[in-house]
Amino acid sequence: MAPGPLAQVLRQIPKVEDKNLLTADIPFADAGVYRISPNCALVQSIDFFTPIVNDPNIYGRIAAANALSDIYAMGGRPITALNLIGFPKCLGQEILVAVLTGGAEKVHEAGAVIVGGHTVDDDEPKYGLSVTGLVDPARLITTAGARPGDRLLLTKPLGTGILATALKGGVLTEADMREAIDGMMTLNRVASETMQTIGVHACTDITGFGLLGHALELARASRVGIVLQGEQLPVYPQVFEMAAIGLIPEGGYNNRSHYLSGVFNRDDLKATVLDILTDPQTSGGLLISVAADKEEALTQALGTGGCRAWSIGRVTADHPEKIRIE
Ligand code: CO
Repeated sequence: MAPGPLAQVLRQIPKVEDKNLLTADIPFADAGVYRISPNCALVQSIDFFTPIVNDPNIYGRIAAANALSDIYAMGGRPITALNLIGFPKCLGQEILVAVLTGGAEKVHEAGAVIVGGHTVDDDEPKYGLSVTGLVDPARLITTAGARPGDRLLLTKPLGTGILATALKGGVLTEADMREAIDGMMTLNRVASETMQTIGVHACTDITGFGLLGHALELARASRVGIVLQGEQLPVYPQVFEMAAIGLIPEGGYNNRSHYLSGVFNRDDLKATVLDILTDPQTSGGLLISVAADKEEALTQALGTGGCRAWSIGRVTADHPEKIRIE
């Protein structure tokens, strides 16, 4: 759902009171965190979507990497997953086998195990997973800990929504968007484990609300301002070209109308920067808020683990709960 209507709906649902629900005060937390003993909490998340590529095995792998990502964003370790499947009767079984095989491969790579699932007949395919992880509550990483002076690192380029729109429109092939497909299939595991080793203040993963939406949720939860370097945002190949010919997904417009009011200097934004900022991501990278004196160590450790990281902005005490684009 678009962020506006979703927030409207959620406001009308009675709030749960439970002292063990550790994410109760964090709106749009990446995952729900529930303490089951003093040093152990469950981290639970769910995500599913219609195919964003044509190859069913790759679709399965992207969907699983995407579903696992919320656990990683919170510093959790995934342990179990349940498959969720909507599948048309007219499609061959071998397609579903390929999707589920792809999903299982990624869950296995994450060191977790698929313990079951549920299928329904559906007019269009849908696939995703409900994932459960574990975290020590003392080591939980949320969107609420960013501090003025922090640097912001992003661990994957942007633009998967624009590229997927181009693929659907027949303007690009899967081969043209190889780098983005590899990126979407990549687990945020190395990024997560590395940030836990170095020690960071806050984190979220970039998915449907785009960099702008997720950065703004982080700014609100931490009650800080954020400055993003608009010209330094990393994007996958062909993203600017596709955006220039208008291949913007509907979700990008939804994000724009909901989150643009949170941008301090929204009137002088370049159109290309706005397209990238609001592009909904599938299986995007982690946005990490780290103390300035640890930025270099984190970037280096990520690189050693084979994970790229881009320094894309900083946290400020100015304009709290708003974003400024430089
Ligand atoms: Co998330």
